[in-house]
Amino acid sequence: MDTNRNLVLLGAQWGDEGKGKIVDLLTARADAVVRFQGGHNAGHTLVIKGARTVLHLVPSGAMREHVACLIGNGVVVNVPHLLEEIGSLEQHGLDIRSRLQVSPGCPLILPHHIALDLAAERARGKQAIGTTGRGIGPCYEDKAARRGLRIGDLLKPDSFSDRLRAVMDYHNFILEHYYRSETMDFHATLDECLSWSGILQPLIGDVSARLEALRQQGRTVIFEGAQGMMLDVDHGTYPFATSSNTTAAAAATGSGIGPLDIDVVMGVVKAYATRVGAGPFPTELEDDVGQHLASRGHEFGATTGRPRRCGWLDIVALRRAVRVCGIDTLCVTKLDVLDHLDPVRICTGYEYEGLEAGFPLYNAQDLEACRPVYESLPGWQAGTAGLRSYEDMPENAKTYLSRISELVGCPVSIISTGADREDTIVLENPFSGGYRETSPE
Ligand code: GDP
Ligand code: IMO
Ligand code: MG
Repeated sequence: MDTNRNLVLLGAQWGDEGKGKIVDLLTARADAVVRFQGGHNAGHTLVIKGARTVLHLVPSGAMREHVACLIGNGVVVNVPHLLEEIGSLEQHGLDIRSRLQVSPGCPLILPHHIALDLAAERARGKQAIGTTGRGIGPCYEDKAARRGLRIGDLLKPDSFSDRLRAVMDYHNFILEHYYRSETMDFHATLDECLSWSGILQPLIGDVSARLEALRQQGRTVIFEGAQGMMLDVDHGTYPFATSSNTTAAAAATGSGIGPLDIDVVMGVVKAYATRVGAGPFPTELEDDVGQHLASRGHEFGATTGRPRRCGWLDIVALRRAVRVCGIDTLCVTKLDVLDHLDPVRICTGYEYEGLEAGFPLYNAQDLEACRPVYESLPGWQAGTAGLRSYEDMPENAKTYLSRISELVGCPVSIISTGADREDTIVLENPFSGGYRETSPE
């Protein structure tokens, strides 16, 4: 019998680890999938028998008709984008509307957030973060400043109009006088927002209460992280981060469950490392190996199409992700991308000014100055692409995986060997693992 009912699945690096694929795979055993942070800056790719779907806001339970898809209060929502995504899934014959529930507490991404995101990036010049330009940061700023508008506010048109005017006056002042860029039209924005109310009303519901009911019924729920641990606004490579908490605890605050209701945390990690946008990346490879990883791994952003920077797996960063997120078990993806490299390297430590260093806390500049220390392992020079059985795995690939597990002190329960849902080896069912059992003494 399953013992882990609430599973948090999150990226243990800088995003794009293959979270969407693994959530979709695990929904065979789940009743609901919840997004709890981020917005449509996420791009989660699902490939089922060769057919590719990229989801940005709709949880990756979309492809299975028995799965409820919930969007928790921690997610910032761009309504036109959400409606477009629903429409596109419906065009593919998926009934998503009846399974989708959106929390009234979700902050609304409005046109001025996008204008502010783009203007702020322009103003940063060489220090630009390389955001996705989706208005994510400014929307979270409004939430923290307590002036933002939320999904539930759409159901109260009179006060919505007054509050929208106030917030737009404020932002238009900044757009015009600080950024010297174009302002946004209040009436056009209001009309657009009010046109959403009727369509959204049936989708709005109390996600926290729904999760409590699911728990009482003994149902299985996956909390789907977006971005990755190293992009967390507190624990990541600040200021080169996103504007939400991407760590496991955010699954509770961003959906309305208690922290003790998280039963298991799975960290998804690529067999190497990638990063989109600017910011420190100690193991980055700007040579032929980096190019090989990029081309064999098709490393282009699922949201913006930008090329992803590539490098070797960074154990220092991964250990930190395991600690900060309380990761119980790992899923290693894209192992097949390393198939033709020999040797393969793992960064096991950093050097800072010639001395051994730990992960520099809260300072992107220090991380920029760290040099990786590598351990080399023999490559396997054989195809793992599409392998579905652990027995068929080359010995050197098994050694690589067990070395990762040993270095971070965490078991590997899933291995992904291709983009397709079926190209996966499940060593241990994450819903039944007793990962937190303590020894008898
Ligand atoms: P997410 O944001 O974490 O869901 O990841 P993305 O979808 O942005 O990026 C992961 C990319 O790798 C997608 O194109 C997936 O189809 C692909 N992918 C996932 N797992 C594997 C794998 O094991 N091998 C290969 N070659 N591709 C994979
Ligand atoms: P998924 O869920 C990879 C990066 C951006 C930028 C920084 C801030 O697909 O893994 P933002 O628009 O959030 O203000 O940008 O965060 N970023 C991602 N990188 N995967 C993502 O999502 C990302 N979402 C944001 O490239 O560096
Ligand atoms: Mg992605």
